[in-house]
Amino acid sequence: MTDTNANTKGFTLTDNSSNQSWDLPVLEGTAGPSVIDVRKLYAQTDCFTYDPGFTSTGSCESKITYIDGEEGILMHRGYSIEELAEKSDFMEVCYLLLHGELPNVAEKKTFENSITYHTMLHEQMMNFFRGFRRDSHPMAIMVGVVGAMSAFYHDSTDISDPHQRMVASHRLIAKMPTIAANAYKYSVGQPFVYPRNNLNYAENFLMMTFSVPAEDYVVNPVLARAMDRIFILHADHEQNASTSTVRIAGSSGANPFACIAAGIASLWGPAHGGANEAVLKMLQEIGHKDRIPEFIQRAKDKDDPFRLMGFGHRVYKNYDPRAAVMRTSCHEVLAELGVEDPLLELAMELEKVALSDPYFAEKKLFPNVDFYSGIILKAMNFPTSMFTVLFALARTVGWVAQWKEMIEDPNQKISRPRQLYTGNTGRKYPNLSDRS
Ligand code: CMC
Repeated sequence: MTDTNANTKGFTLTDNSSNQSWDLPVLEGTAGPSVIDVRKLYAQTDCFTYDPGFTSTGSCESKITYIDGEEGILMHRGYSIEELAEKSDFMEVCYLLLHGELPNVAEKKTFENSITYHTMLHEQMMNFFRGFRRDSHPMAIMVGVVGAMSAFYHDSTDISDPHQRMVASHRLIAKMPTIAANAYKYSVGQPFVYPRNNLNYAENFLMMTFSVPAEDYVVNPVLARAMDRIFILHADHEQNASTSTVRIAGSSGANPFACIAAGIASLWGPAHGGANEAVLKMLQEIGHKDRIPEFIQRAKDKDDPFRLMGFGHRVYKNYDPRAAVMRTSCHEVLAELGVEDPLLELAMELEKVALSDPYFAEKKLFPNVDFYSGIILKAMNFPTSMFTVLFALARTVGWVAQWKEMIEDPNQKISRPRQLYTGNTGRKYPNLSDRS
């Protein structure tokens, strides 16, 4: 989408007080709503647009991910998430997001090799982990350690050098599982486990998380495939809060490690990546099917801050396509592990009750990806505090791809929103002794 694609469709903005009017061009993408180009609006009209939460604002041009929230469609580089989750693997999806095309055999091998040979952390970074309290939330450790990568990998912080950008991207994708596993190991008081180059990405992560030096660890292929699929489902999601945070941080020219640390911080919140942790806590709090109506009632009550976690989405006004894949995966993993989890039964009953309730139907609130991911992760033995960490691990490639696209965009400017000021003006400074 560029200026040259501006078509004849357009809007005219009229200032009723002065009878002046301005033509606002409309730009068309390859899919999705058109955008009204307001870049010259302030210069022409002396007015800003006002859009808290960016509910009607396109912040950038992008070719990476497309979402149709009404239809429940998610595509990466034009490929549907359902097809990618079924036929692809996470390394291929990473390559696709970063390069725009699926890799051929040789490209895939080279990429996988590069990721594999970047999985180890600078040994000095191990001391960094040891500085945290044992009871630190692993997301707190992750924000700190990823931010600190800029202090360890100076040779990939020059954002104007395409080679350094590529090396930083590979380092971030490769080291994130090692950082995540270390955060977990530290919290349970076990020794850090080094990566092994004969394992694939998901296998390596499971091994670093769950193996101990005292005995051999055999990766369960069903769990490794489920892990890989969870990574695919979380790989990218357009201009969400954390991705926008990464882009905004990067727009000032900050190095990629600092930008991704900012993204991790943004993802942590319960309205975003923290929701899968919140879903599990909610299911545990509900405890029994009999209490579902009480919690549904609370979710509908305007005076009660309780919300049905794992339900609703800013963009999806239909079933989140990731949730459908996750639901199937959830059943597969539980069957493989022979786990009969009452929380899964509770979740399915809750989903059924909510979907048949007019409140949720009218507001188009459907299960999102987080509704089922927590149950799978729990069955795989991850503690709840690790759920958002896994989201961050998987989303790193999306953040990196979006950051790289932003740096390479000739229209890129530092992000600097303006405001509608409603505070005091022109006050006289009172001396301390005169203040009541
Ligand atoms: N339970 C009950 N009511 C809800 C819920 C919910 N989970 N979500 C939205 N609503 C109501 C909300 O009260 C509002 O009602 P009204 O119009 O009467 O004021 C209406 O639906 C619209 O909600 P909103 O908060 O204006 O919508 P939003 O787009 O700002 O919020 C959301 C989206 C995801 C933050 C919100 O749906 C929510 O808090 N969901 C629970 C948290 C959650 O599952 N988050 C994970 C998102 S998916 C993972 C990711 O991509 O990060």
